[in-house]
Amino acid sequence: MKQLTINQLPQLPFDVAESVNQLRVNLGFCGKEIKAIMITSSTPDEGKSFVSVNLWQQMAHVGNRTLLIDCDLRNSEMRTRYGIGGDDKVLGLVHYLAGQVELDDIIYQTDVSGGFIIPVATHIANPSLLLEGERFEKLMAYCRDYFDYVIVDTPPLMNVADGLNIATHCDGTVLVVRSGVTSRRLVENSIQMLQKTSTPLLGTVLNRVNTSRKAYRYYYKRYYNKYGYYGGK
Ligand SMILES: Nc1ncnc2c1ncn2[C@@H]1O[C@H](COP(=O)(O)OP(=O)(O)OP(=O)(O)O)[C@@H](O)[C@H]1O
Ligand SMILES: [Mg+2]
Repeated sequence: MKQLTINQLPQLPFDVAESVNQLRVNLGFCGKEIKAIMITSSTPDEGKSFVSVNLWQQMAHVGNRTLLIDCDLRNSEMRTRYGIGGDDKVLGLVHYLAGQVELDDIIYQTDVSGGFIIPVATHIANPSLLLEGERFEKLMAYCRDYFDYVIVDTPPLMNVADGLNIATHCDGTVLVVRSGVTSRRLVENSIQMLQKTSTPLLGTVLNRVNTSRKAYRYYYKRYYNKYGYYGGK
């Protein structure tokens, strides 16, 4: 299998790492049949890729063979943001969906033990037809069989149908909501859209919470002290 290295994985602060860990544990409680999980949001910049990459890493870290599929075929910044590269020319999802290469050519092992990636190597202006085609269906069926978990990073739901197409091939969705920015109306709209697919909404992630707010500081301090008490000397 071909190899990619991830040179810029962020070191998360304790509270963020713990929140991702909670998400991982909660998804585990959804049942063994929930393997392919789509991460989406209403609008750009809410943290879909951030949640996807960190959830993927934690799932792999606890021993699950976990595949991250970058399905943001229009705008993905994952490779530059996380410094994902390899020795050879990188082939990605678009090459496979367009029939130029086969699955083996686009599933990469990474330096995260147990963590595998299908990257986006070429962007495409209108991927809808490719995502509706049978090659995408075949890819998802194969990956669901071959891996313990498949985390699917997507474009925002607003404006384009890609996310809804992708959802129909997943076992569940997680909606990321940017705290203090995304309106309730937009969130409700996204939930309604997702409900039209037969794929269950597993939960929402309230992301990018302003941790400098007084109420949060109070909570964090109490929690951290408690943790320190149990875990410390
Ligand atoms: N919980 C978080 N803590 C710190 N930084 C975050 C968090 N969530 C997101 N970010 C940062 O916010 C920026 C936008 O996040 P990200 O790229 O994951 O959003 P996105 O929803 O995938 O955007 P797009 O719709 O463009 O794909 C990135 O710089 C990311 O590192
Ligand atoms: Mg993204």
